[in-house]
Amino acid sequence: MSTETHAGAHGEAIGQTSGNGASASEERLTVTDSRTGATYELPITDGTVRAMDLRQIKVDESDFGLMAYDPAYTNTASCRSSITYIDGDAGILQHRGYSIEQLCEHSTYLEVAYLLIHDELPTEAQLQEWVHEITIHTFVHENVKDFMQGFRYDANPMGMLVASVGALSTFYPDANQIHDEGIRAIQIIRLLAKMPTLAAFAFRHNMGQPYVYPDNDLDYAGNFLGMMYKMTELKYEPDPRLERALDVLFILHADHEQNASTSAVRAVGSTQVDPYSAVAAGVAALYGPLHGGANEQALRMLRRIESVENIPGFLEGVKAGNERLMGFGHRVYKNYDPRARIIREHLDAVFEVRGKSPLLEIATELEKRALDDDYFTSRKLYPNVDFYSGLIYEALGLPVAMFPVMFAIGRTSGWIAQWLEMVKDSEQKIARPRQIYTGERDRDYVPVAQRG
Ligand code: ACO
Repeated sequence: MSTETHAGAHGEAIGQTSGNGASASEERLTVTDSRTGATYELPITDGTVRAMDLRQIKVDESDFGLMAYDPAYTNTASCRSSITYIDGDAGILQHRGYSIEQLCEHSTYLEVAYLLIHDELPTEAQLQEWVHEITIHTFVHENVKDFMQGFRYDANPMGMLVASVGALSTFYPDANQIHDEGIRAIQIIRLLAKMPTLAAFAFRHNMGQPYVYPDNDLDYAGNFLGMMYKMTELKYEPDPRLERALDVLFILHADHEQNASTSAVRAVGSTQVDPYSAVAAGVAALYGPLHGGANEQALRMLRRIESVENIPGFLEGVKAGNERLMGFGHRVYKNYDPRARIIREHLDAVFEVRGKSPLLEIATELEKRALDDDYFTSRKLYPNVDFYSGLIYEALGLPVAMFPVMFAIGRTSGWIAQWLEMVKDSEQKIARPRQIYTGERDRDYVPVAQRG
């Protein structure tokens, strides 16, 4: 076997200065292929090697070249993004550099949506214009309403949301002109404006109640509460404490970088389909219990524990491996999920309006005991966003089927921001992973009568 050294596919960068100012020659991975004895130098940029640089590693000329195998993309960066920064070990979440704590304290959901989508916080005039535009686009075409009324009486609201947001593409056929900045801008406004309307219609449908039209005198969260809960009163007046808690929940769910639903939006959007269809893919991904359903599981767990006295026995069962403590642990956060702490702070305000849930005492005691227990601390298991969000939603009178719908409303701003970033990114193209083929080859077709 010959021993030779190959430059990376971006080998011309070796020895030159890379974009971040460091010499690329200082940052490279040297790989020796034991099959051939050949050695390769792959540039390392931003802590990554390019998967395409592996392709030059071949046994012979007819070889396709080496690929990376990464089921579920657990160690693959699929894009460059400047939207959301997470440090899971330190429990840090920032959007465009602003901490989630500061945004939740000082900002509103629509302002955070502007920040995510337009890179910077708006000026006062920009914010006014943005809020005004979203407010005047909250109505949906009457045919959308008719379409939703066609669902079965007990249709899952998340299924209705997937279908109805996708259906919006048929009402705005020019939305597929995704490279036209002006056309893009109006679809973004429409998506943010109409998502709560579709979500509330789905809820009312489920409750067997007439749909309530948007009230443009109300703020984003207040208008949503009105469309959900308005009955015979002439004017719905949301309680400001509930309105604020809901707005903060929307902020907390606005973006979380390349999670499953965002990756779905990017993958589907990479085909250059319109943004309604791409966002429908995101909602579909969120419909899955592993993504949008953990808070429902956490709430069911609290109900099952029933009383504080049962907590030690329950925790023993968790430690014995019989079940998981739902709402604890996170793939990325190995510290307290900052979103859980913020939700906890808003619980009291919601309970002040709605009356205290007996489950709060169980949740508080459960958290305290788990954080005092070496089993959980040694595994870095802390409360995540789902530990308390179900309690707030329940206090707001929402059935569990609506929990992921609430998540979807907030996440819409993140999906749009990520979609927009992808559309403008010249490095992106249609998403098309590779596979390791494990099936049969070169078989002769056997007529059905001759098959054993
Ligand atoms: N309760 C008890 N033990 C747990 C829990 C939990 N909630 N989570 C992890 N562990 C234990 C595992 O058994 C494992 O222990 P071991 O080393 O003795 O085998 C160890 O901690 C590591 O667990 P992993 O499953 O490898 O951790 P991973 O990062 O893959 O899992 C996950 C993250 C899926 C979120 C997990 O913590 C879990 O199932 N949590 C409960 C469900 C939940 O709350 N999901 C919501 C996440 S937030 C969101 O999606 C918005």
